[in-house]
Amino acid sequence: MAKPVARYVCQNCGAVYPKWAGRCDACGEWNTLVEETVEARPGPVGRANAGRRVTFVGLQGSTAPPPRANTGIAELDRVLGGGLVPASAVLVGGDPGIGKSTLMLQAAATLARAGRRVMYISGEESIDQVRLRAQRLGLADASLELASAINVRDIAATLEGERDLALVVIDSIQTMWLDAIESAPGTVAQVRATSFELIRLAKSRGFSLVLVGHVTKEGALAGPRVLEHMVDAVLYFEGDRGHQFRILRAVKNRFGATDEIGVFEMTEQGLAEVPNPSALFLAERRGNIAGSAVFAGLEGTRPVLVEVQALLAPNSGGSPRRSVVGWDSGRLSMLLAVLETRAGLRMGSTDVYLNIAGGLRVNEPAADLAVAAALASAATDTPTSAAAVYFGEVGLSGEVRQVAQAESRLKEAHKMGFEVACLPRRVARGGRKSSPPEGLRLDEIGHLTDLVAAFGAKSAAKGSPS
Ligand code: TYD
Ligand code: MG
Repeated sequence: MAKPVARYVCQNCGAVYPKWAGRCDACGEWNTLVEETVEARPGPVGRANAGRRVTFVGLQGSTAPPPRANTGIAELDRVLGGGLVPASAVLVGGDPGIGKSTLMLQAAATLARAGRRVMYISGEESIDQVRLRAQRLGLADASLELASAINVRDIAATLEGERDLALVVIDSIQTMWLDAIESAPGTVAQVRATSFELIRLAKSRGFSLVLVGHVTKEGALAGPRVLEHMVDAVLYFEGDRGHQFRILRAVKNRFGATDEIGVFEMTEQGLAEVPNPSALFLAERRGNIAGSAVFAGLEGTRPVLVEVQALLAPNSGGSPRRSVVGWDSGRLSMLLAVLETRAGLRMGSTDVYLNIAGGLRVNEPAADLAVAAALASAATDTPTSAAAVYFGEVGLSGEVRQVAQAESRLKEAHKMGFEVACLPRRVARGGRKSSPPEGLRLDEIGHLTDLVAAFGAKSAAKGSPS
């Protein structure tokens, strides 16, 4: 008979060790190893334990594209790649309080209203709490099947006999518990075992499974990375708690593109879709203020215009501060150095503050030119043109480099009523440059000196040399 074998699993990264240690060699975290007991498999793989032959098929065959169930929330459907796929599992991760439960309750209720069978199993909130929220969201009339449960054995027994289920939401996977595993809910062992069981059910019963998962403060999903490998799609719900908007981002999707985003606004009546994010991010912009520049960015495949704000303040002794919200601070230091050495823009020992207005986090190097414009504008006390957008990557020698999808950025700028686009020198493709949208003037910038010179010239014209 097989005897149980003890092993030690890191709760941070999922690495497995035969012996306990204070520190995990794989991720370097301290005190994260927890004992798990596993039943050793009887005997070695051999003729006595012969498995069945695996069947092979050719690559060609009649495989229809997966049928999709639209959740009725277009922003969510887009991120999913066109709706929920039956017999698949989706992980929706995000910080506590960001709105995961709200989003999934809205999606579940909308699907139920469309006549599909939907179950919502909450391990975190009581029935009353979920009902109250549904009432507040105006969804109480939806024929959703609601349960409060954490025991996966019970849930499995329930789901095993079900038919025609479209969607099952588990909120959250960290509260789920299997009695066969000794560790507490939320540990690697429990998260892995409960997810495995739930995903197995989804595949065999043919429903779409959504697992809600919390993220640790380090930004990783609490529980194992293995969970990300087990599911078909991983969506992250993110946003700044101080701001109203939320972004749903696909980081893995077996049935669609991973660079799609959905934009939502948290309102009194739950999450509202934002079909035009640029309008949201530019809503509070004021023209004619030095230190502000509009970046024509790209989130996934969607162009999004955001305002970059820079502020230079006299330093009161000590080393100058570089403070960044919504952008990479290393990248800011690099840009400051390039502006100073290659374009002669002296910042000296002033404090530099940089902010992406609205709370969006920009990761694109294409924002370099907009940041440089905001900085140059602040340094020369000259507003950028209120009708201009900027995009382009800056290299270490001060050259402005090409970025992806210039066309869709220009289109969005035009749509939002901008008249000038400052961008890298355009290369002719196939012998000719594509023409910009009508009414949009292109200002090609080859080097940062050109950008800084434009501000210098403007401030000189105003009689306030920098
Ligand atoms: P919730 O969905 O519970 O977050 P999560 O499941 O990710 O932990 O969202 C909680 C927050 O959303 C809470 O701070 C209140 C806010 N909220 C609204 O602003 N409007 C609403 O209609 C709802 C339901 C929640
Ligand atoms: Mg929740």
